[in-house]
Amino acid sequence: MKYVFLLVLLVVAGVGGLLGAVAVLRWNDNMTQTVKFVPGERNFAMPAGVVPRGGELVYAREQRELATRQPNPVKATAESIALGKQNFQTFCVPCHGAEAKGGVTGLVATKFIPPPDLTNADLQKQRTDGYWHSYIMVGGAVMPAYGEAVSSQEAWHMVNYLRSVAAR
Ligand code: HEC
Repeated sequence: MKYVFLLVLLVVAGVGGLLGAVAVLRWNDNMTQTVKFVPGERNFAMPAGVVPRGGELVYAREQRELATRQPNPVKATAESIALGKQNFQTFCVPCHGAEAKGGVTGLVATKFIPPPDLTNADLQKQRTDGYWHSYIMVGGAVMPAYGEAVSSQEAWHMVNYLRSVAAR
């Protein structure tokens, strides 16, 4: 009688252990099978060369051609131009001069490469808003990038400001 009891106990313990092991194994396995985020992993494909900034699409410098064709989403209202002027005076005047006339009108420009006259009508006609926006966000040949300092929106405001000072 004693042996039957021990045998039953052994069988019950064995089956219990086996079920437990199966449950643990499946649970462990599930963790690798189900939807999950691995640190550093992107969950969608991004277009090549694109860096997200403030939720807005900003093309890399190598993709200036694409950026050039980006339309200006910000209407050139008096408010936008005023905001653009404010940031221009903060970030750009040292090189471009208070009136954006370039040359050596900026204090830094005397020690740096004199930038072009941004009010020049021919230059204004040649460049699209998207091109200048890109120039501000990701920089130019020697001009530094300002994408870290201003938002994409603020860069459009500055483009609007620059359009407002075009020589006529
Ligand atoms: C360190 C000096 C410096 C600062 C600061 C600077 N720029 Fe420039 N910028 C230049 C130079 C130099 C050029 C001439 C093009 C080149 O070599 O990159 C230029 C060119 C430009 C152009 C003309 C691009 C073209 O060819 O049509 C625009 C527009 C412009 N800058 C806007 C800005 C704005 C807006 C700011 C402020 C956010 C700014 N820059 C700050 C030096 C500067």
